[in-house]
Amino acid sequence: MEANNTKKTGAFLPPETVQNQLAAADRIRLRFAAEGKTGTDAPLYYILTFGCQQNEADSERLGGLCVSMGYRRTEDMEKADLILVNTCAIREHAEKKALSIIGSCKHIREKNPGLLVGVGGCMVTQKHRADKLKGSYPYVSFTFDTGAVHLLPSLVENALTGGKRQFIHSDVFEIAEGLPLDRTSKHMAWLSVMYGCNNFCSYCIVPHVRGRERSRRMEDILAEAKMLIADGAKDITLLGQNVNSYGKDLTSDGEGADFADVMRAVCALDGDFRLRFMTSHPKDASDRLIAALADCPKAARHFHLPVQSGSDEILCRMNRKYTSAHYKSLIDRMKAAVPDISITSDIIVGFPGETEEDFEATLDMLRYVEYDMIFSFIYSPRPGTPAAEMEDQVPHEVSTARFERLLALQNEISLRRNERFLDKTLRVLVEGISKTDSAMLTGRGDPVRPVHFPGDPALVGQFVHVKIERITPFTLEGTLVN
Ligand code: SAH
Ligand code: SF4
Ligand code: F3S
Repeated sequence: MEANNTKKTGAFLPPETVQNQLAAADRIRLRFAAEGKTGTDAPLYYILTFGCQQNEADSERLGGLCVSMGYRRTEDMEKADLILVNTCAIREHAEKKALSIIGSCKHIREKNPGLLVGVGGCMVTQKHRADKLKGSYPYVSFTFDTGAVHLLPSLVENALTGGKRQFIHSDVFEIAEGLPLDRTSKHMAWLSVMYGCNNFCSYCIVPHVRGRERSRRMEDILAEAKMLIADGAKDITLLGQNVNSYGKDLTSDGEGADFADVMRAVCALDGDFRLRFMTSHPKDASDRLIAALADCPKAARHFHLPVQSGSDEILCRMNRKYTSAHYKSLIDRMKAAVPDISITSDIIVGFPGETEEDFEATLDMLRYVEYDMIFSFIYSPRPGTPAAEMEDQVPHEVSTARFERLLALQNEISLRRNERFLDKTLRVLVEGISKTDSAMLTGRGDPVRPVHFPGDPALVGQFVHVKIERITPFTLEGTLVN
């Protein structure tokens, strides 16, 4: 594959570039209007998002551009006039799922020859994947990499006017300010503070598909935060692959605002909302950030600090640039500064060369930290990354057996951690109606785990108080308190 790790990263797209795209969007909207395709007859767009919150945030921008072009969102893929698939490349499974969904567009296109199919995101930022779609998926109208989200209007315009199929690979990945949003939830919001990653963990595809780190200006972040709050956001997550690097690229001397300043500035905005952030890298997580979390009343008492492995040997081979002792000292400082903090982590099992002893060290880390919850993954080799070339790849059955042991231990720990909430009353944002029981609502307090309770669906989007009466390793259950 062509790794994009040599790709230059610029700072900001010239505002005219974005204006030109918005003008193209307007031409498309007028064209639809001239054909009577407005209001309830407007053409429909369907968007499917794989991967992380960064992709969710990009999809809301893509959706915003669709709305500017005169499309309305549908949840029914079969009815769509424009299908967008925003892909992920983090593990092989994510790519396989995306390819299978893209494959299913074939029969929809057969029924609706005017259908446009566009594929964006991390998977198609890898040239070999875009080439594959070009060669073997003739019903894909266009692909665009993660640096080309803003180009959607010109891609659609080209496709609608009978132009050739297009496959965009950007030379530079720059920040596009001023793109519209079509938000998927009124009360939950994503707010990217920076894009890209410079860390090159040896297993990870992200730096190859998201370009180098680039930070948004503080004033743009605050303006967007105000807009989100005015639009009803009650739970805002600040996003970046490594938020602790925020601002390093904005000033030549590195003396500008850092992420702790961003946290404090957003927390100081008027409005009743809860602030979260993702993700923090242990090599850069600072006492300033821990202090900001402790000081900001609107910040959720939660820290997601992915450790990946508890073994120093494996951490070194992963190119994580910290030791288990450093990680533990951070955890100690967090617990001291923010009593009752919820700590969560990502863990990779079966990294090349992982021995039974290395894996035991990871289990020991779980016992030491007592995470509220972990996101665990079986290592998946990513072509083009150094770890994929390492010897001693761990056999799948060994990884699977370790994965089961990891989950069993974490379930015990999660259950024990949840006991502290029994008989306590939590402030919970009602996120929606339970998928399994329509009489139940589901929401979240400060900790990330879901809270279930019976209640009126009219409460969705509001903060309520819930007394916790039952726990499982994964959920808290209770009743509303007036
Ligand atoms: N920037 C974030 C995480 C991004 S990816 C961070 O550094 O923490 C989310 C998680 O996916 C990672 O934390 C890691 O646990 C997992 N992951 C990344 N590459 C992987 C791979 N090749 N195989 C399995 N899991 C992987
Ligand atoms: Fe991937 Fe590491 Fe960057 Fe996270 S910090 S996105 S794991 S390279
Ligand atoms: Fe996947 Fe790209 Fe996110 S690879 S995890 S969607 S940054």
